[in-house]
Amino acid sequence: MYWLGLDVGTGGSRAILVDAGGRCRYSFIAAHRDMQMLRPLWAEQSPDDWWNASQTAIQGVLKEAGIDPGTIRGIGLSGQMHGLVMLDANKEVIRPALIWCDQRSQRQVDFINSTLGASRVVGYIANPVLTGFTLPKLLWVRENEPDRFAAIRYILLPKDYVRFKLTGEFATDVSDASGTALFDVVNRRWSREMVDGLGLDRSTLPRAYESSEVSGRISVAAANATGLSPGTTVVAGAGDQAASAIGNGIVEAGEMSCTLGTSGVVFAYLAKPAYDPAGRVHTFCHAIPNAWHVMGVTQGAGLSLQWFRNTFTPDAEYDELTAEATLSPPGAHGLFWLPYLMGERTPHLDANARAGWIGLTARHQRADLVRSILEGVCYSLKDGLEIIAALGARPSLVKLSGGGARSPLWHQLFATIFGERVATLETQEGSAYGAALLAMVGTREYSSAVELCRAAIKEVAVNDPEPPEVEFYRKRYQIFRSLYPALKPAFQAIGELDA
Ligand code: XUL
Repeated sequence: MYWLGLDVGTGGSRAILVDAGGRCRYSFIAAHRDMQMLRPLWAEQSPDDWWNASQTAIQGVLKEAGIDPGTIRGIGLSGQMHGLVMLDANKEVIRPALIWCDQRSQRQVDFINSTLGASRVVGYIANPVLTGFTLPKLLWVRENEPDRFAAIRYILLPKDYVRFKLTGEFATDVSDASGTALFDVVNRRWSREMVDGLGLDRSTLPRAYESSEVSGRISVAAANATGLSPGTTVVAGAGDQAASAIGNGIVEAGEMSCTLGTSGVVFAYLAKPAYDPAGRVHTFCHAIPNAWHVMGVTQGAGLSLQWFRNTFTPDAEYDELTAEATLSPPGAHGLFWLPYLMGERTPHLDANARAGWIGLTARHQRADLVRSILEGVCYSLKDGLEIIAALGARPSLVKLSGGGARSPLWHQLFATIFGERVATLETQEGSAYGAALLAMVGTREYSSAVELCRAAIKEVAVNDPEPPEVEFYRKRYQIFRSLYPALKPAFQAIGELDA
């Protein structure tokens, strides 16, 4: 028997097959087209590109495994969060999706706060509204593209569009719904106050399930398109971060993970909702009933290295670049990278924040540039870790996953800059793995995610922080922290140039 996890990410869609012991046996990734950036800080992708890549990934993993698709007992979905997919009455996509890192909607965030009251909003959804979330994107469409807005009959998140293509159902899960800014995170249901208060139509929103609940079954059309068996169970799944946390075994209090994909996220389990009064980290439903999580997001984590490679060394492999970074000493000769390539969320809540190197001299080499990127991403994620620790979630160990976890240098830098023990895990399939584990729980192979994670998840390498280097980096972290406040007025002025 197998369970299939499908993650609809930013760079690509990944399908994996997990066996009854919770081991990942096969995986296949199909790339997406690059996001369209029609203006600085705008980001769009085509939902049909996700669906095409999902079909390719499912067909690919089935071919690689050579198994009878009838042996797949359940499917779990995960995906990039916050993206706005709009369908009309014919269930056709109205326009490309505005995705998680799109930052065009500050005006709409201000409108929501002035209409409903910023502190009342936190009471309704346990978070402030941010430009990255779905709701202000929807209001942007209402204001700027009224004909398209008028045509909307269904609103979906990215993985939920793929679910619709697989099952015909309009559904989401509580963790992904949490990132819309329309969801009452404490009570795990759509927020009447937000929906009615902004004059939106409740009937356009999908049904929100707990993550391991069954949300539908593979349709005959989807079976023909993918090679799956018609009738296969599809559980609700989770937003990529909550799914990745299941894949990392973050299912009990005291556990924390750091996932380095396009974005970078520090994530901690919460038995009860708790939030940062300044709203610098998100409090969302976890993919486990009656549990929540808090997370801090660096928008441009893996993206920083990807941008560097695509721009300056398109032929280099990531491993070559991170190996080159070892030629630069700790601190990269006094060079700092601010990773705000797509604005920032944690801790700055600033759509206008910009990236850059500070401290460049004629002496710096490419190795220093790369090393400073790795270090800058660690500093930025440490910002999130500190806020989460102040909420009482101090970890005994941080579990590292995502593409960045494959670099031994980056792994050691996280341990040293965080000043915490950092482990990598046997299975590095992140969100897709978590989605498959949720399908195992949903089809009753295991009674709970806690039981399954205890049985299936194994740490393979632990890095301890090296005390002299911890001190070395602590000083540099203080300099890093001083840079954004110093540059904020200039970022604001630059943002106004584009407006
Ligand atoms: C989480 C977030 C990102 C995206 C893309 O809040 O925005 O993790 O889901 O991965």
